[in-house]
Amino acid sequence: MTTFIKGGTVITSTGADLNEVLIDGETIIAVLSPGCDVAQSAEAGAERVIDATGRYVIPGGVDVHTHMALPFGGTVASDDFESGTRAAAWGGTTTIVDFATQAFGQDVRECYDARLAEAQGQCAIDYGFHMIIGDVNDASLKEMDLLVNEGVTSFKLFMAYPGVFLSDDGQILRAMQQVASNGGLLMMHAENGLAIDVLAQQAYERGETSPVNHGYVRRAEFESEATHRAIQLAKVGAAPLYIVHLSASEALEQVAIARNKGANVFAETCPQYLYFNLEDHLGKEGFEGAKYVCSTPIRTKHEHHHQDLWTGLRTNDLSVVSTDHCPFCMKEQKELGIDDFRAIPNGIGGVEHRMDMIYQGVTQGQIGLARWVELCSTTPARMMGLYPKKGVIQPGSDADIVLYNPNHEWTISVENHHMNIDHSAYEGITVPGKVETVLSRGRVIVEDGEYLGSKGHGQLVRRGLSSYLI
Ligand code: URP
Ligand code: ZN
Ligand code: ZN
Repeated sequence: MTTFIKGGTVITSTGADLNEVLIDGETIIAVLSPGCDVAQSAEAGAERVIDATGRYVIPGGVDVHTHMALPFGGTVASDDFESGTRAAAWGGTTTIVDFATQAFGQDVRECYDARLAEAQGQCAIDYGFHMIIGDVNDASLKEMDLLVNEGVTSFKLFMAYPGVFLSDDGQILRAMQQVASNGGLLMMHAENGLAIDVLAQQAYERGETSPVNHGYVRRAEFESEATHRAIQLAKVGAAPLYIVHLSASEALEQVAIARNKGANVFAETCPQYLYFNLEDHLGKEGFEGAKYVCSTPIRTKHEHHHQDLWTGLRTNDLSVVSTDHCPFCMKEQKELGIDDFRAIPNGIGGVEHRMDMIYQGVTQGQIGLARWVELCSTTPARMMGLYPKKGVIQPGSDADIVLYNPNHEWTISVENHHMNIDHSAYEGITVPGKVETVLSRGRVIVEDGEYLGSKGHGQLVRRGLSSYLI
């Protein structure tokens, strides 16, 4: 099947141009100037013509941080691979990189194989995996080398969650040395979990049990200290480092200092850290704030975290926007912590809203159009070894393409989202643009407000090494 997309403004990380796109099967074969002879004959010969007049034609979103069906805090994230990737497609994301998880005492290979089996045949869009290493030991270090050769080229470690995932500094250094030798990327959840647990216990004993305390005890200093420590360890271990879900200005400062010295240090943030704050969201009446419990936490509006993060996105001290999609329903899930904020499962559902929320940054003058595409698609693809198959509209790339209407204002609600959650953290937010048509490897999977995809269309992507490593 040949498809011709005409009349749109094609946006890539290098700019925006009126261009037409020719697709053959699953692959983009040409990007053509409108009206040129080749474009005219391509349109005449195409089996399907999609009119993109007035639309932005962008590479499908690449969300490199999701947690479908993640077991956490005695429950399981409420989107599985089927529902979560369908919701991602609705929101213009055509590739996710999720996580396989090795917890303490478990075998890396068994955990990875089980996770592969869980996703196989379920996904609406293409998917890959990082591996969470929750027990750094001789066996898991060896498995990391094997996984890199199989396309799992990044490994997440935790400086938080003692007794579950936390790695101590010695383990972190060993894992860093391993990626330094196998070419992988070390991803870090940078929060000082031991210190957080002391404050959390003290708050609980004082009777401070409501959701907002999650934000108070997970101090910005703890994020910044852990980020600094991770950077120093990575320097000694000679490993590239990617800080996940960064939310505090002070942590961003550490990343900026390292980057200014030329270190291979990168960081991502997520829409929730740009738009939500501790007072108005995590601090909502009653138990409502539980919807905003995630780690790192939502930060206070009285400091300058939110604007600093936008500035970081502009200056490239923050290179990627991912969602850290990890949804839990209020009923029977977030409610587990109704009397104790420490028992609220950590996570926010947002895989469907990333493209819209970051486009809002374009309309608010925080970033430009090309940077929107770069942050949400091109750089995540390059960072995670998916480029140029993903993240760009150019001949030879997968035909993962979104037609985005920049003039369609609409309001996000639990009533119109497609994620499997009983609430929306984004409820009532009016966004200025809308995903209208989504192609995944040449197949139209969203069009005219209808979902045309199917589970099992999404394929496992074996990732290469990050393009950013030198
Ligand atoms: O709150 C979060 N981020 N939940 C998911 C697990 C993690 O640490 O990424
Ligand atoms: Zn994390
Ligand atoms: Zn996460």
